Amino acid sequence: MKNILIISAFILCVANSFSQEKRLNLENKVITPNELGIFDTDLISPSFHKERREKLRELMPANSVAIFYSSPIRNRSNDVDYEYHQDPNFYYLTGLKEPHSVVIIYKNKIKLEGIKTNEIILVQPRDASKELWMGKRMGVEGVKQILNFKAVFANKDINKLKLNLKKKDKVFFISDKNDTRDTRSNSDLYDIKKLLLTEVENTEKDNFQLNKWMAQLREIKTEEELILMRKAIYITCKAQIELMKKLNPEMAEYQSEALVEYHFKNEGAEHAGFPSIHGSGGNSCILHYVSNRRLFEQNDLLVSDIGAEYHGYTADVTRTLPVNGQYSKEQAIIYNIVLEAQTAGIESCVEGNSFWKPGQIANEIIAKRLMELGIINNTNEVKKYFPHGTSHYLGLDVHDSGTYNELKAMQVITVEPGIYIPKGSDCDEKWWNIGVRIEDDILITNMKPINLSGCVPRTIPEIEEIMNKK
Ligand code: GLY
Ligand code: MN
Repeated sequence: MKNILIISAFILCVANSFSQEKRLNLENKVITPNELGIFDTDLISPSFHKERREKLRELMPANSVAIFYSSPIRNRSNDVDYEYHQDPNFYYLTGLKEPHSVVIIYKNKIKLEGIKTNEIILVQPRDASKELWMGKRMGVEGVKQILNFKAVFANKDINKLKLNLKKKDKVFFISDKNDTRDTRSNSDLYDIKKLLLTEVENTEKDNFQLNKWMAQLREIKTEEELILMRKAIYITCKAQIELMKKLNPEMAEYQSEALVEYHFKNEGAEHAGFPSIHGSGGNSCILHYVSNRRLFEQNDLLVSDIGAEYHGYTADVTRTLPVNGQYSKEQAIIYNIVLEAQTAGIESCVEGNSFWKPGQIANEIIAKRLMELGIINNTNEVKKYFPHGTSHYLGLDVHDSGTYNELKAMQVITVEPGIYIPKGSDCDEKWWNIGVRIEDDILITNMKPINLSGCVPRTIPEIEEIMNKK
């Protein structure tokens, strides 16, 4: 008996030291992009992220610091989580797609563990047992080698670091709605956030300005970002054209969704940038309809509002199609009003114009035409049938960060007017269940606007021609 106990203790001891050794080795081990599952060679470069941090630093006042957190893991149910999506500000500044990370950006250099630096990133450490289930982590060494950060530490070591936060005049952060503990992780941000807050408890805090600075930076795209945006938009345009070719009244909304999302993934997009909207019949009048379960009927219109996400950047392109390949008389009338409003809105996407100009123009046209048709009696009623904004910025978020001031070159915005007349509306019932939205992604330049999604037909003859080609 005694021998058995000694042998078991010995085995446990060896196993324990073996796993510790394995962990230590793993932490210092060089990891390659391929081992991490990174095979794309056209990802945004570490120098882009570094340059963005520099730009932010230029906006910060002397002796201040800015803190950004990665997105939390969100639980879907039981032990299944939602697909992880990095916080776009965090990704923009770091390139890291992993959770449980913090980046601290200092205006001025500090000395930390012998490194003179103006930025620190804390990341989840490597962990063989977690990586077995969830895939490889970059860890400290990976973030140094792949993302080119110099001052990188394991998040769990935060207690050991002299972060120099107490001596700062001001700390900027983005208010955080996600401060719950990740019960299945031993390296989540819960304690780290608490510790950082205690560190800066006597420092002046600002949770407003950082959002504004990030909007100022993110709304102007670099050439590098535009390459990825053009790719996301190109994939989305092809999917819209494929849908035009295949759409028929025998299908269901989920099949039109399946068709475009197959195309997204088949072309290399990682995800849809937002839940695909495929609203047919009466559902065409629900602005963000996403259940996509209805079976089409002969004379339905289908609002297909979709966007592929490619390496973080999303497209957002909407077409409204007759499922049987031919717009009815009433559908065509409403469609052409939206088209007229959109065309005029796009033309007004000129540097120096207010961000709101395309919307003002689209609203005026839609109000005028709906009055001519007797659908409304005065221009104030237009909101009843066109209840949303006409434009938003586009980028890492579908509704991207921006200042909503004047239009500037290298911004990408959508122009997406719509008219929605649900059943029971206070007008002739021949207009009921007609919902139309047309949306394109517009690059502002110092000359004319460029319609990045212009390769998808928008006029009725062009759409009907594609839909009816045998
Ligand atoms: N694509 C959906 C929206 O812009 O709200
Ligand atoms: Mn949109």
